[in-house]
Amino acid sequence: MTDITDAELVATAREAAERSYSPYSRFRVGAALVAEDGSVHTGANVENASYPVSSCAEATAVDHAVSTGVRRIRTLAVACIDADELDVAYPCGRCRQIMSEFDVDRVLVATAGGAVREHTLDELLPYRFRL
Ligand code: THU
Repeated sequence: MTDITDAELVATAREAAERSYSPYSRFRVGAALVAEDGSVHTGANVENASYPVSSCAEATAVDHAVSTGVRRIRTLAVACIDADELDVAYPCGRCRQIMSEFDVDRVLVATAGGAVREHTLDELLPYRFRL
């Protein structure tokens, strides 16, 4: 399988955000990840009238990958196409812990406008809980 570039992964996350179901927050988020085997999986945030039932884009993408057999993820890109600033585009704490479970190495955070910042998961979730 051909390796996807970071720019392609971010573009794929942006496309996934277009499919977000977010009528309550109107904050569309998409995620795209590349697994150790080179497979690419996407997700978007899926909200619910009962707000806590909603799923984040990163969790949706990870669940999709893991349910097809993936156990290790290399890079995950998250794109908030309704965020102008990188500061409001970062993964929530729960999603950081979900990424940790499947050994995500790198996280690419992207806005609508084209800004992208790269982090290791260790930077985003230091002293994380692991068994
Ligand atoms: N959201 C994500 O999809 N990922 C995150 O890491 C943070 C927040 C979603 C959840 C909700 O649908 C909307 O963004 C506003 O919080």
